[in-house]
Amino acid sequence: MAPTTPSTSDFRHALGQFATGVTVVTAERAPGQVHGMTANSFTSVSLRPLLILICVAHQAQLLPLIQRQKRFGVSILREDQRALSEYFAQTVEDSQIERRLGIHYRWTETGIPLLEDALAHLACKVVSEQAAGDHTIFIGEVESLDVHEGKPLLYLCGNYRSLCS
Ligand SMILES: Cc1cc2nc3c(=O)[nH]c(=O)nc-3n(C[C@H](O)[C@H](O)[C@H](O)COP(=O)(O)O)c2cc1C
Repeated sequence: MAPTTPSTSDFRHALGQFATGVTVVTAERAPGQVHGMTANSFTSVSLRPLLILICVAHQAQLLPLIQRQKRFGVSILREDQRALSEYFAQTVEDSQIERRLGIHYRWTETGIPLLEDALAHLACKVVSEQAAGDHTIFIGEVESLDVHEGKPLLYLCGNYRSLCS
């Protein structure tokens, strides 16, 4: 008997068993202005050179920005930054909401925006881009990084978690 092809919900259920952190990927959308997108497809790729990857949906507003800028930032969220993850997982950008959520950006010397107050930051230059199904995989070489004290926000089975729950 031929094996049954897994459905997308089978796929989501299986992949949901894999716990991840939560990041916000940022790129410049206009001079001095930032677009951010919540992403948990962030993965380490190589130590020599330092490479990471992210997968960006073809319908995401972020996609053409990274393709144009060839640079992006990854901010790894803290356990108390769930509201930021929710904000950057929707498509509307609103400076009033950003002010209320206390969202501030800083910029690297090479023009990569990062979220202030995240647990860790990586500023990346795109070295490879590969369309794969309904996403594009970007491999980024890490130009700079920093890490701070604290605990990460986690994502498992479609829900936010922290190390204590
Ligand atoms: C926890 C979490 C992780 C996500 N990871 C990704 C991801 O890795 N890649 C992606 O394209 N969208 C991901 N999304 C969905 C995007 O954040 C969402 O579709 C967003 O609105 C797209 O951003 P845009 O404003 O650039 O269109 C994730 C959403 C959540 C809540």
